[in-house]
Amino acid sequence: MEIIKSVKKLREITAQARDKGLSIGLVPTMGALHDGHISLVDRARSENDIVVVSVFVNPTQFNNPDDLRTYPRTEEADCRRLADARVDYAFIPTVEEIYPEPDTRVFDLGPVAQVMEGAMRPGHFNGVAQIVSRLFDIVRPHRAYFGEKDFQQIAVIRRMVATEGFDIQIIDCPIKREPDGLALSSRNVRLTPAHRAEAPKIHAILAASVADRATKTVAQVTADVIAAIDASPLMETEYYQIVDPVTLQPVTSWADTPHPVGCVTVWCGDVRLIDNIKY
Ligand code: PAF
Repeated sequence: MEIIKSVKKLREITAQARDKGLSIGLVPTMGALHDGHISLVDRARSENDIVVVSVFVNPTQFNNPDDLRTYPRTEEADCRRLADARVDYAFIPTVEEIYPEPDTRVFDLGPVAQVMEGAMRPGHFNGVAQIVSRLFDIVRPHRAYFGEKDFQQIAVIRRMVATEGFDIQIIDCPIKREPDGLALSSRNVRLTPAHRAEAPKIHAILAASVADRATKTVAQVTADVIAAIDASPLMETEYYQIVDPVTLQPVTSWADTPHPVGCVTVWCGDVRLIDNIKY
């Protein structure tokens, strides 16, 4: 595996690969890699000739300076994991390399970006669109891989790809979980032991609520999930919404869409966890 720090060099390498007719898969990450990331890499490895993984903690998508400051950074361990996963190129640029000038672009991300994370974290999705479009422009991959834990993010990226005219296939990959059900996240390492022990309840509560679809309304299931999470003294729900999987708009009836998705954000101590479930 080659570690690349320069935008110019990565552009040259990926342009040459495309000229040779090789397919390129890109896995964008912010590092602190876990098995969820590696599952995206494995999928990219199985579907492409060349695999590029970016490791870049993108400052423009953090609306909370403390979150940016405390975001885990584990570059050496990340490089070892990526080499073991047979990645061809790890792209690990500095902030100045990615943003030689401040990125002032404002994306038209539409209604998918205005609800849930978009409403709670102003500017977050515009920052995601900035970095992902920049990576797409540098690497020009054939396929890009994203985890379904960030369910709304995938919808926002699909919208950005459509409006910016990128010819890139967006591949969504299933959530990876700990054996106790907690969705893998780089932020899990920041949980205290007590919060770590409590956090698997989030998935357990969501999973149990799926059966309730047969007997309860969307509003009742929503209220019950929030009440069950908030019954824990160590957790507090920021939002729980059952939404259409494409438009991300809340549904009011199970009949509104064949495959609704419940999206949750929970404060577990001072760590903000997100998860989702398909109904
Ligand atoms: O999901 C993430 O880790 C980030 O939002 C992404 C897509 C790598 C952009 O910084």
